[in-house]
Amino acid sequence: MIQFTYHGHSCVEIAYDNHRLIIDPFLNGNPVATVKPEQIKVEYILLTHGHGDHVGDTVQIAKANDATVISTNELGVYLGWQGVKTHRLSLGGSFTFPFGRVKLTQAFHGSSLEFDDTRQIVYLGMPAGILLTLGDKTIYHAGDTGLFGDMKLIGELNDIDLAFLPIGDNYTMGPEDAVHAARFLNAKEVVPIHYNTFPLIAQDGDAYAAKLAEIGIKGRVAAPGESFTIA
Ligand code: NI
Ligand code: MN
Repeated sequence: MIQFTYHGHSCVEIAYDNHRLIIDPFLNGNPVATVKPEQIKVEYILLTHGHGDHVGDTVQIAKANDATVISTNELGVYLGWQGVKTHRLSLGGSFTFPFGRVKLTQAFHGSSLEFDDTRQIVYLGMPAGILLTLGDKTIYHAGDTGLFGDMKLIGELNDIDLAFLPIGDNYTMGPEDAVHAARFLNAKEVVPIHYNTFPLIAQDGDAYAAKLAEIGIKGRVAAPGESFTIA
């Protein structure tokens, strides 16, 4: 059994066997999160890209838990300089950790840090999606991305049990493209993410789930703080 807890935006906490993981832990600054970073107990932090609404409280959580951050190379180097343990992957690469396998997939987005005081934008490599294999289950977290045709390839090569797909529009796919994404991925079940965090990405999660139902895919709308399991 795998337990997922959605913390709003793109943050998903995962409990599997005795392992605890979190993806994109944006909690402080996330107006819909129901937990604080100091409440998070994990061994691994998985990051999709370097934007602040995804890296979030990574450094604090990593240090408090002696957790390892799994990310792209450049983002990992940057976090390593802050005293965080990292495991760096490149897109298309995978590694089997004690909890299961992580493979980074492509995403069409950015991955940068902005320093307003010096007016610098520091690029942190490619943004990524995450394919996570836990036991016999395959989970796909798309990160921030627009729709892309190779989601068909990801769906063809992987039997996706659960997909977390952004639907907020503006910065990522909107709901219409995210329906195409769910179809391309041939996901059994889809949880919409990256919406309703801020007014700019307000969307109707239930309407999205209803569109998924029309094409025979189960949509699961999770409220921030809500947990659910797949077995
Ligand atoms: Ni982003
Ligand atoms: Mn984002």
